[in-house]
Amino acid sequence: MNLTFFAPGRVNLIGDHTDYNGGLVLPTALSMGTYLTVTPLAENDCCRFTSENDAMAFTLRSDKLTQRHGCWVDYPIGVIKEFTDRGIAVPVGLHFHYRGDLPIGASLSSSASIEMVSALALNKLNNNPFPLLKLVKMAQHAENDFVGMNCGIMDQFASGFGQKNCAIALDCNTLEYEHVPLDMQGLKFVIANTKKKRGLVDSAYNQRRSECQQALEILQQHCDIQELCQLDMTQFQQLSAYLSGNLLKRARHAISENERVKQAIRALKDKNMTVFGQLMNASHASLRDDYEVTCPELDFMAAWAQQFKGVLGSRMTGAGFGGCTVTLIAEEQVERFTEELGKAYEEKFGVKGEMIVDN
Ligand code: GLA
Repeated sequence: MNLTFFAPGRVNLIGDHTDYNGGLVLPTALSMGTYLTVTPLAENDCCRFTSENDAMAFTLRSDKLTQRHGCWVDYPIGVIKEFTDRGIAVPVGLHFHYRGDLPIGASLSSSASIEMVSALALNKLNNNPFPLLKLVKMAQHAENDFVGMNCGIMDQFASGFGQKNCAIALDCNTLEYEHVPLDMQGLKFVIANTKKKRGLVDSAYNQRRSECQQALEILQQHCDIQELCQLDMTQFQQLSAYLSGNLLKRARHAISENERVKQAIRALKDKNMTVFGQLMNASHASLRDDYEVTCPELDFMAAWAQQFKGVLGSRMTGAGFGGCTVTLIAEEQVERFTEELGKAYEEKFGVKGEMIVDN
């Protein structure tokens, strides 16, 4: 037996920090992601986990497959736990070897792709007991419960349901989704990695999430909603006097971002990429000013890109605090853009960024 599985990373085009507020997101799957090869192991009471991206190898007995290690192996173990919690036997006598070509911890869902590829493999090894949506939810749950990052469903969903050359318009409240073709008409998305280490990202993320929850609880005293993104901006403006300070800003971001995603989906379907780009710029400003999850590196890259000839829009993508920007740009400008942004960024921060043109 020698089985290989793949799950992609994603870049979110617009709609950040809306998923856990019951809103819309618009990610697209990348061709980069995580490969997992499963082969038999001589020791039949153990599982072995190795990764081409990390020298740390783990050979774990079946009774140790529920312990946290504080590193990448927690993603597969968390997923294994999801399976065993549902009555599937602990896997033994197997070697799980991971190989990823995504930059790690760069907001392109390297973690979700490890979780999803593990879930796909375990499902296949057990004769497919679970449908894809269930696997997506189990992967998210592994990250929430086992790893301790209280993420929404976007990344695992995009990794599981992603299709080439399409964005996924996902309603994170109902989980209804639609693949919207990316008809790029001489345009490209360029991803620029700040290489900024996202220190304390999990705790800052969890804090934003709890601020949204607090804002929701206050608004629920005045209107009948289960999620912040059930409000549109007009309704929100009528209620916003009940909020102040950070809670007001966090809720305003979530609700305005949700409206931008609606408009962006419409723009994509109408092939109006100029409007799409403007919405990306507005999204970055809101993530910077209201949600406060950007950083000088992301702000520099987005602002630099926004003034560059041929750029329609640029924004941070994913959780923030570091990671990547995504820029919509005329194809013929891509080479000059990546070269000059790379230079300007290195001059300013002394770090070589990384430019990715995925498809
Ligand atoms: C991370 C989380 C997602 C989502 C984004 C922000 O990627 O895993 O669930 O909340 O941040 O949009």
